[in-house]
Amino acid sequence: MTKFYITTAISYVNDDPHIGHMYEAIVTDVIARHRRRMGDDVRFLTGTDEHGQKIERAAAKEGIPPIELADRVVRTHHEVQKKLNVTPDDFIRTTEARHRIGVLELIRRIQERNPDDIYLGEHSGWYCQSEETFIPENQVKDGTPGPGGTGTDQDGHKVEWTTERNYFFALSRYADRLLAYYREHPTFVAPPTRLNEVVSFVSQGLRDLSISRSTIKWGIPFPGNPDHVIYVWMDALTNYIAALGFGSEEHSQFDRYWPADMHIIGKDIVRFHAVYWPAFLMAAGVELPKQVVAHGFWLRDQVKISKSLGNVVRPYNIIEDFGADALRYYVTREMVFGQDQDYSDQSLLTRYNADLANDLGNTLSRAIKMSDSYFGGRTPPERCFVNDLRDVAEKVVPEYLRQMEELAFQRAIEAAWELLNAINSYIVTREPWKLFKEQGASGALSRIIWDTLEALRIVWVMMAPFIPASTREALSRLGADPEGIDAEALEWGGLAASVPVRVADPIFPRADVALYIGEKKTMDETMPPAESTPAEAVPEVAPITIDQFMAVDLRVADVRAAERVPKSKKLIRLSVFTGDAERTIVAGIGTRYAPEELVGRKVVIVANLQPAKLMGVESNGMVLAASIDGDPILLSVDPNVPAGTKVR
Ligand code: MSP
Repeated sequence: MTKFYITTAISYVNDDPHIGHMYEAIVTDVIARHRRRMGDDVRFLTGTDEHGQKIERAAAKEGIPPIELADRVVRTHHEVQKKLNVTPDDFIRTTEARHRIGVLELIRRIQERNPDDIYLGEHSGWYCQSEETFIPENQVKDGTPGPGGTGTDQDGHKVEWTTERNYFFALSRYADRLLAYYREHPTFVAPPTRLNEVVSFVSQGLRDLSISRSTIKWGIPFPGNPDHVIYVWMDALTNYIAALGFGSEEHSQFDRYWPADMHIIGKDIVRFHAVYWPAFLMAAGVELPKQVVAHGFWLRDQVKISKSLGNVVRPYNIIEDFGADALRYYVTREMVFGQDQDYSDQSLLTRYNADLANDLGNTLSRAIKMSDSYFGGRTPPERCFVNDLRDVAEKVVPEYLRQMEELAFQRAIEAAWELLNAINSYIVTREPWKLFKEQGASGALSRIIWDTLEALRIVWVMMAPFIPASTREALSRLGADPEGIDAEALEWGGLAASVPVRVADPIFPRADVALYIGEKKTMDETMPPAESTPAEAVPEVAPITIDQFMAVDLRVADVRAAERVPKSKKLIRLSVFTGDAERTIVAGIGTRYAPEELVGRKVVIVANLQPAKLMGVESNGMVLAASIDGDPILLSVDPNVPAGTKVR
């Protein structure tokens, strides 16, 4: 069994977790779940970074001791993780004894192996409290160096000219060793753009690093000099080994899991993980982690979401109303791993409707309904091992696994969708409802429905790390083992014949996006009101995104019956067939068309329009027609296109 140790960054406890922290926890959980089901011995660590000035100040502002603030925020982290179905194996707090033991042991080992690497010295420079780090001179704007000087850094944070007599770590001695290490381990930092940044930073030469503070009380006392506390980053980074028992008598976890296979972090803290951390470990003679992987930022209106910028997003209402999987799916599907992405409730719900409610959820309901009604509430009796869907599954599963390996979640999900789309085309072209009418529950029908259910089972198994709760539910409705999501479950043939299926309400009930956004305040409540901007000329037809367009379910339908709506010149009541069912649509085309000429015609309809009553008749959809001065002309469709086919 291969061991796999994966960690998130540990979050500061000066504020509750927001979408950025949730994202990091979710992607790490996705990777951990995937590795676990592929048979690895996984250890997933997360936690909180509780020392330092940031926390000291936030607590003072509230008039409470720092530990009280930390305890409160940690509780929120646990609650949020539970809600999100994030299941770490361990959660470390830097205020725990095991953490302190690990930090002190790291310093002890450095002092023992390289006595000159830690020394007492003096340093002056621009210090940024928000980042808890010194900022290079060339990154400071509007500041005159010298006592009392202030300025701003590149991110707009205040910096202060600070002189400190502190303990230093001889980081400058490690530049060459680090560069050699990056050369020999080109995947040490991912994605490659981040490695390039690190290499260029280190190539300019490194300055020694101040690793203690005498101005702060809230921290781990420096060994041998309790007037100083250990610099927060040296403290925080050590969590990754302290959690495994580094420095304790009981260090079997350290022996088993270290070095870490992946440190998952945001792109803002790459330097700490890819420069300072390996240098500390080299000095202490501890093995280096295998990989530091940096993700991008969640933005709000193109600006990074963060407490200090006051634009945080905590989509608690969405999780409450649509389930954790709605958020888990959105953040992994929408963001290209490594790049930045703008967050909005609107885009989340649009994607939820189009992908989860419509594609994934509807296909499942439709297939289970057919099996239920054709085969007496069970999966079909005859299974099938040679068919088109199996070929597609056997093509997309390896592709999916490759993309999961690369952390290209978006592409992995796209691979699952290739199979899902193939299933939908398969249903439309095989027309099982016709077969049932003609032959009843025949062997041929059995094989078609079983193929459909089996391919769907594989789609859901692929989706398991992303949407674990819904997957469990879907598999149990399909008659499959809800826990069966391992590597073997990705192979064709897992679904049993003649086992009960379960017809139930949609797993992902559709969201009325406009209504929801209007009614609920899903963004963070502490958000400052948006500043009013001058009115802009609104184009006649505002452009929409591809996602908004994809949310419209356009389908080909056969007109089976048509009659005028009594007392109306314009309205015709149509009965249309959409591939698996008939529905009524009331169309305002009576001024141009007679009912008789409509029967047998193919039309394009909007299939997911909310039902509406027109002259007392409920209409379930809309027929598309061009309008020349109000005169409707139906769109024509090639007669070979089967009813139910999607129009894009
Ligand atoms: N405490 C340090 C990490 C120490 S690790 C040894 C820290 N904490 S943090 O709370 O500011 O951030 C925790 C993680 O969340 C970091 O990886 C950070 O990059 C990530 N995010 C914070 N805001 C983010 C977004 N807006 N978007 C995505 N992730 C971002 O840094």
